[in-house]
Amino acid sequence: MIDLHCHIIPWVDDGAESAHTACRMAEICLQNGVDTIVATPHSNLVGSRLNYRDRLFTEYFSMFRALLRQHDIPLRVLPGSEVFAHSSNLRELLQEDKVIPLNHSRYLLVEFNFHTSPEMLNRLLRMVRAYGYIPVIAHPERYYAVQEAPGLALQWYDQGYVIQLNKGSLMGRLGQSACETAQYLLSTQAAHVVASDAHDTRGRAPGFRSLLPLLRDFCSPEYIRDLLEGNPFRILTDQNL
Ligand SMILES: [Fe+2]
Repeated sequence: MIDLHCHIIPWVDDGAESAHTACRMAEICLQNGVDTIVATPHSNLVGSRLNYRDRLFTEYFSMFRALLRQHDIPLRVLPGSEVFAHSSNLRELLQEDKVIPLNHSRYLLVEFNFHTSPEMLNRLLRMVRAYGYIPVIAHPERYYAVQEAPGLALQWYDQGYVIQLNKGSLMGRLGQSACETAQYLLSTQAAHVVASDAHDTRGRAPGFRSLLPLLRDFCSPEYIRDLLEGNPFRILTDQNL
């Protein structure tokens, strides 16, 4: 399996708090049958490192890969980021090529402030598209606009944007509304990917083993394979979904 969204690199955001935690997270991935992850630190988020596409970011990424090698952890880690999109500087970031898409593909993982209006969400998503990227919308079920009107996420699906649900939402760890919205999007087959959005080894850990029984309640075996493997693979190899 492939985990497309994971805060596993230590030192760069509110994810893994130490090299030790990061290694434990990587081991949990492997124990759960996840052999490939995309490291997606928060980017453009105030209060965190900005994690734009630059030499320093490349160094952090290489250091993390070296750390796994040192500890003989054979997890395949690919580069990415989770871009916090807001109107004050998204255009500039796209214009100046500062964003880090998922494994150098056209697919860009984007997140928003939970309170963003539907109009602004649509405007920002169109902007991402206009610069040649395909938005992968991180945890739409957590945004209030989608919780109030889940049809918004169905429109995004129809527009060719990628819908990525969080494991924690589906399991009810991120609030009841997020849980209900995520389960609704699964039941309508409007989700493309389920990812861990892991930050640690406890409440927000990687791995999908604990999630599988719930997925089986909502999805066919073929759909589960698409969510956890097929679609993430297509994204990382820059194919259409
Ligand atoms: Fe995240």
